[in-house]
Amino acid sequence: MTDTTSNKMWGGRFAAGPDAIMEAINASISFDQRMAAQDIAGSRAHAAMLAAQDIISDSDADAIRKGLLTVLSEIEGGTFAYSTALEDIHMNVEARLKEVIGEPAGRLHTGRSRNDQVATDFKLWTRDQFDAAESGLLALIKALLGQAEAGADWVMPGFTHLQTAQPVTWGHHMMAYVEMFGRDLSRMRDARARMNESPLGAAALAGTSFPIDRDMTAQALGFDRPAANSLDAVSDRDFALEFLSAASICAMHLSRFAEELVIWSSAQFRFVTLSDRFSTGSSIMPQKKNPDAAELIRAKIGRIMGANVALMMVMKGLPLAYSKDMQEDKEQVFDAADNLMLALAAMEGMVKDMSANRESLAAAAGSGFSTATDLADWLVRVLGLPFRDAHHITGSLVALAEQNGCDLPDLTLEQMQSAHGDISADVFDVLGVENSVNSRMSYGGTAPAQVRAQVARWKGIIG
Ligand code: ARG
Repeated sequence: MTDTTSNKMWGGRFAAGPDAIMEAINASISFDQRMAAQDIAGSRAHAAMLAAQDIISDSDADAIRKGLLTVLSEIEGGTFAYSTALEDIHMNVEARLKEVIGEPAGRLHTGRSRNDQVATDFKLWTRDQFDAAESGLLALIKALLGQAEAGADWVMPGFTHLQTAQPVTWGHHMMAYVEMFGRDLSRMRDARARMNESPLGAAALAGTSFPIDRDMTAQALGFDRPAANSLDAVSDRDFALEFLSAASICAMHLSRFAEELVIWSSAQFRFVTLSDRFSTGSSIMPQKKNPDAAELIRAKIGRIMGANVALMMVMKGLPLAYSKDMQEDKEQVFDAADNLMLALAAMEGMVKDMSANRESLAAAAGSGFSTATDLADWLVRVLGLPFRDAHHITGSLVALAEQNGCDLPDLTLEQMQSAHGDISADVFDVLGVENSVNSRMSYGGTAPAQVRAQVARWKGIIG
């Protein structure tokens, strides 16, 4: 007895259709419909190759090509009726193709399996995300370079342990993030280059007995070459994991920067003013201007790193080749990609719009004994003291200033000389924050000239 509700694709083997719960756990169409364009591009490349290799007729290939374009326009026009019973995007498209063109549709799946099909579609989708991340990062880097250039010589406190350490420049701080996002950029580019091999034609897992031309489909889809092992081609999700790992590191950088913006925009710091466009108000406290965009960016690492861990857990322990577990790959990457792009765009917007409060930065730069290291260095350089002794003497002067409720440059020469009799008046030159940052001319240091050189270098890199 044959149950007429059994699946169209494999009904020959089955007497009954699936339980409703089976359908619910099995279907991926609710989310993998995002790969419709990639699925149709892959099918078009495959059909053209089948015809070129005389595996199907030119007229069938032509019917398939036209039919796929019709299906694509239905999908893009929002008139396509997705069916959960048809499980996923691959079967939805193929079933609709059958309705549109009839018998030739059944020849499309020659020499192919959903296993290489899904790997191909998902790679094409993920490849676009590497490109989108690259654009987002480049835009953010440009915005940071704008800030760094404008404030190459604006002094601000540099921190370690969030305690005032040494004065730095605003431009230097911005350029630190340029380095981080620059590494993110290179990670995205590296991974994209590595992943750009076509799984199409690996078929279910072993390759196919049809005389297919994998170079042709690889080329048509913009891949550099076909993947060299059919088992690996259908079971590899490294490209998704590399995207998620690179995205996680990038999201971590975004989160650190967002955290600084939250701190810096507070009334206690006042280092930056975020624009109204990237802030919100409070429904009860009229004075509030909240850095919500920064806070949400700070939080995005949670779901992005979560996706990375989730997919790693899905993949670990899977025997070769394809297992249905792998269907759990897409939502993680979709969600992580959406949120990474949003976070990059929001950060770019915030950075472009924000204004650094030069006076507040300068006032904070000079407080907290930030030039104590400069004083110690002066004792070494001018008086020839060992650094450890200089450190000790400087420490006693910091204690003295603290007792007097003043900063180091406010001490008198006599007070200075109470710690070491040879200290002379020109010590005061190094206690100014401007002099302090100007003196840090070592390569990669905070001196404005070094910052400007790095801005110029990066402009050359990103064009
Ligand atoms: N929807 C499936 C996925 O996302 C497509 C591949 C199905 N392959 C199979 N052998 N059941 O992984």
